[in-house]
Amino acid sequence: MNIAIDGPGGSGKSTIAKILAKTLRIAYLDTGAMYRAIAYYALKKGADVTDESTVLPLLTDMDMKVWEENGVQQVSVNGINTTPFIRENRISMAASTVSKIPAVRIKLVELQRNVAQKCDCVLDGRDIGSYVLPNADYKFYMTADSRVRAQRRQSELHAKGQDISFEEILADIEKRDLQDKTRSFAPLVICPDAVVIDTTNLTIEEVTAKILALLCK
Ligand code: DC
Repeated sequence: MNIAIDGPGGSGKSTIAKILAKTLRIAYLDTGAMYRAIAYYALKKGADVTDESTVLPLLTDMDMKVWEENGVQQVSVNGINTTPFIRENRISMAASTVSKIPAVRIKLVELQRNVAQKCDCVLDGRDIGSYVLPNADYKFYMTADSRVRAQRRQSELHAKGQDISFEEILADIEKRDLQDKTRSFAPLVICPDAVVIDTTNLTIEEVTAKILALLCK
């Protein structure tokens, strides 16, 4: 069984995906972390994520590994565990920018499909239902008002010791939404066969219950 959860940043999809995976005792794949890992690696290597010609050479012999450690997904690129560094605000935008490059997407989509083929899995991202797994058993699209999403992101970053103004986070979220929705290759779209859940005024428990009810139907 594969469950696809797509949606913009801060919609709550990774929180819900983790809970679902735990409840259903199936695997969880955070595909955003994979784009974040490439962005981190590219910046570390001095590439310019807005310039495809500087990123492409890095892909040639790039070895990405994804595994779980104490319940937390880890992603390494060429032996470097990127996990501690990929949640920084600058990496969010860099991941969105690097994800516009078709060759980057093709590489990661192959890995994601391999995982989905091997095990029952909840995958969250932007293009899971529309491109990675068009035949997924269940598809959800989670969304929320951008100001609420920015508030959630600010709390997350604050908890990690990153104090960034609400206005800056809101601007980044809106810029990233636009970039993810308008890229030419596998953009963020609402699949016609996805169940749309607006989490603006819902608690985590309410969203989880809603999804579990649909899965058990
Ligand atoms: O879900 P996230 O915030 O960790 O994702 C970071 C960026 O990665 C997001 O802005 C766009 C890109 N991404 C993508 O293009 N496709 C996915 N399936 C997941 C993430």
